[in-house]
Amino acid sequence: MCVKPENSHLSRIQEAPDPPLNRRCSSGFQVYVQTFGCQMNEYDSRRVIVSLASRGACLTNRLHRADVIFLNTCCVREKAEQKAFSFLGRLRHLKMRNPAVKIIVAGCLAQQMGDLLLTRFEHVDLVVGTQGFSTVGRLLDELRHSPVKIAHLPESDPEWDIPCPPSGGTPECPVSASVTIMQGCDNFCTYCIVPYVRGREKSRPSRLILEEIQGLVDSGTREVVLLGQNVNSYGRGLDEQTDFAQLLRRIHAIPGLLRIRFTTSHPKDLTDALIRSLAQLPKLAKHLHLPFQAGSDKVLERMGRGYTAGEYLEKIQNLREACPDIALSADVMVGFPGETDEDFQATLRLMETVRFDTLFSFRYSDRPGTKSSQFPGKVDEDVKAKRLRELQAVQELITLEKQRAEQGKVREVLVEGPSKAASNGQMSGRTMQNRIVNFQGSAGLRGKTVHVRIVSAFSHSLRGELLPSQ
Ligand code: SAH
Ligand code: SF4
Ligand code: F3S
Repeated sequence: MCVKPENSHLSRIQEAPDPPLNRRCSSGFQVYVQTFGCQMNEYDSRRVIVSLASRGACLTNRLHRADVIFLNTCCVREKAEQKAFSFLGRLRHLKMRNPAVKIIVAGCLAQQMGDLLLTRFEHVDLVVGTQGFSTVGRLLDELRHSPVKIAHLPESDPEWDIPCPPSGGTPECPVSASVTIMQGCDNFCTYCIVPYVRGREKSRPSRLILEEIQGLVDSGTREVVLLGQNVNSYGRGLDEQTDFAQLLRRIHAIPGLLRIRFTTSHPKDLTDALIRSLAQLPKLAKHLHLPFQAGSDKVLERMGRGYTAGEYLEKIQNLREACPDIALSADVMVGFPGETDEDFQATLRLMETVRFDTLFSFRYSDRPGTKSSQFPGKVDEDVKAKRLRELQAVQELITLEKQRAEQGKVREVLVEGPSKAASNGQMSGRTMQNRIVNFQGSAGLRGKTVHVRIVSAFSHSLRGELLPSQ
């Protein structure tokens, strides 16, 4: 089943129609799914939905209708954690009105807090850690028969790598589907909680990845997004001798698959082989997400990132030489402990040198158990806010200039479906460089690649004119 939880905003969702699965479903219980955090969490939620659907569950986008509320959480930054807390707070009332509703909290925050979550939010029924996604269905069965509160945080999930079925409920598979190729992280950047809550890095056997992608393609998927905290180290620790560049080549050979994207790459592990693949494999999207985090060598060293700003810039130069049309995005943070104004200026300089197409920028926050939470030199929240505003203003201009530079160009667009913003027959898709393009076109173009001339540019999307097919 390819069900993607569509509910990212509580208030909006309460008004939204139910997903197709619900309309086709006349019996069973109703599940409301809310996913916070990264794409890997979205993927894990999809696996849980599949397992619940096999037990008769229907998805609902209306909270008050739900028999089960499944919350998949993130704790990578304080703000992410606050989002989950505030959502949970709002559920208290709902549980009072309907004590039969079962509330499940899973994912990274669940792993971090364990049964503390049950104490702090007494209306939560089940807490499931990051190695417990495959057990949610079974635990829910138990819970529905004997209403005890459980915090389940197993050490490993023996079923984590089993291919997720491509169909089994919804009529349509997404044109673009995510596939997790590895879990966890061994990098232990000093600020990051991911290795603690997601565990040590492990790669999924290539056979299982290929099997899953083949299933998706057979069901109509045309693009896969390969996910991992550090995809460039794919293959380490597997019995088979393989690496990321080799995996890409094997996926590339799947007939019917039109595009491949991946995220995230760590600059220290970006190899020449991968740079060559970006230049040589035509199905590989011409876009790389390469977080740099900071522009000051002193800060990078204290973050434990394993590269200098100069080394990062050199990789970017090599990439652009090999693949001139490549779009670049990155993550960066401000206010790491000890970050001075001068360090911050180095971050701005790096951004202005690279001129990223898109940049995700964050305010540093202490995460429990990480090394940097013990570092001296904590930066004032006001200073962090000011630096973030300044950085975002600089980037906004660059992003807009980059978007405007697309005007007049003809781009190949993979059509994902009707445009979200427009109800007037506009279709939406992405260029190889990962830019969203809306254009007038028929619904039959879904899943196809078309050529579009870009006519206008906005910060987050482009408008185009469909060209006749050659
Ligand atoms: N594996 C990816 C990123 C995972 S987390 C990588 O290595 O790049 C996503 C982003 O959250 C990070 O790139 C970083 O910019 C940000 N982040 C992680 N921990 C943070 C913290 N304690 N405070 C603020 N931002 C943080
Ligand atoms: Fe966190 Fe660093 Fe691993 Fe990314 S590479 S998940 S930032 S520890
Ligand atoms: Fe968040 Fe966990 Fe992903 S902490 S970023 S949901 S791996």
